[in-house]
Amino acid sequence: MDRFIIRGGYPLQGTVEVSKSKNAALPIMAAALLAEGKTVIKDCPRLSDVTAMSDLLRVLGASVTRRGEDLVIRVVDESKIEAPYDIVRKMRAGFFVLGPVLARRKVARVSMPGGCVIGLRPVDLHLKGLRALGARIEVDSGYVVAEAPRLRGASIYLGGPFGSTVGGTANVVMAAVLAEGTTVIENAACEPEVVNLMQCLNRMGAHIKGIGSPHLEIRGVRRLVGCTCELIPDRIEAGTFMAAAAATRGDVTIRNFRMDHLHAVVDQFAQAGISVTPNGGESCRVTAVGKFKPVDVATLPYPGFPTDLQAQFMTLLAVADGVSVITEKIYPDRFMHVAELGRMGADIRKEGPHAIISGRPSLSGAPVMASDLRASAALVVAGLMADGETEIRRVYHIDRGYEHIEKKLRKLGAQIRRVSDDQPTPPT
Ligand code: EPZ
Repeated sequence: MDRFIIRGGYPLQGTVEVSKSKNAALPIMAAALLAEGKTVIKDCPRLSDVTAMSDLLRVLGASVTRRGEDLVIRVVDESKIEAPYDIVRKMRAGFFVLGPVLARRKVARVSMPGGCVIGLRPVDLHLKGLRALGARIEVDSGYVVAEAPRLRGASIYLGGPFGSTVGGTANVVMAAVLAEGTTVIENAACEPEVVNLMQCLNRMGAHIKGIGSPHLEIRGVRRLVGCTCELIPDRIEAGTFMAAAAATRGDVTIRNFRMDHLHAVVDQFAQAGISVTPNGGESCRVTAVGKFKPVDVATLPYPGFPTDLQAQFMTLLAVADGVSVITEKIYPDRFMHVAELGRMGADIRKEGPHAIISGRPSLSGAPVMASDLRASAALVVAGLMADGETEIRRVYHIDRGYEHIEKKLRKLGAQIRRVSDDQPTPPT
């Protein structure tokens, strides 16, 4: 298992390029199961989640190959219908294959994703939507078994106690594109990654109207044909670099990302005293001087502040000049990073879905443990600004969603090294 060793206190300077979005790539990979012929995903990021999804598609009878930076997917055997526990348990996005396999192959057997360190993550809305389309669904020995000789368009409300669902919308849309008749989805997710998926489906021949709004109308078609898909830039990676630049009071230009996907984040960063200014084209410059101001923020579905940047922003507020409150409205238990930040000297109290953060003058380096993808990113940000040395264990979490993060940070002047557990800790 690899670790990161970070020596903090070096202001980041220079330019960093954002990779394409993991959370757009994964559902689009699943969508390739719907299409006849070849689907090409341009510039697909090299991440362990993409590798896991590639393995799952192969189990389901697809050939998945790399052609340079592109991923080429072609279905060669439609007799396979089972997504096994061993893959879906490691990566929840494996559940995205349920809609496509059901729609194309009339029956699907997909492992229930199970527990998750960021809290309860049910799939009831996915199943509700597919049932509305006429699927017969049972849970058998930990697997969802869905069957439908022909899916039929329906009117579906897809909201739950925490609002819209990204994965649920993706799964139901991917089934509805091949259903007979028209499906109307109310309270659909509006996240840019869901928009990216639906635009690719339309390129394959689907008829989806209302993309980007909570009201979708999908006229079913008989077949889809593979196409070339462009992924959107990873807005969460961009937001993480913004946090890293601000944390070190650096001056960083972030390139190849869409500022319009991060309005809420730029606004909250501005309130904290961090300047994020457009820099022409798909680029911005991030600078920060002096103490951060305290901010109260709630995570919300898009276009609100993303839960996937909550931990990174909390790290900045841990050294703000006063008390901030973060309310987690998507995953009320997504606070695994709080205890680790506490080991670095942060003063954070958790009360239900709220974290009350009393800003400290600084953080100090410490050995810490990564618990999930975004918590790991927050610990990297914390390590970059802390006094002394931080050792982050279990960085395999970060490899799920950040392409070459330590190389990109090193290019900006960060003192960060990756070492394997069997290697001694090198001097930094
Ligand atoms: C996606 O997860 C992302 N994952 C998550 O990113 C992200 O945090 C999340 O959306 C919210 O933006 C991928 O895209 C692969 P949801 P997803 O369904 O689709 C509740 C990361 O770090 N809900 O939009 O699983 C759910 O419990 C990951 O990259 C139900 O109640 O999230 C949550 O409270 C982590 N019933 C809320 O809805 C359901 O059937 C939103 O979840 C489904 C969801």
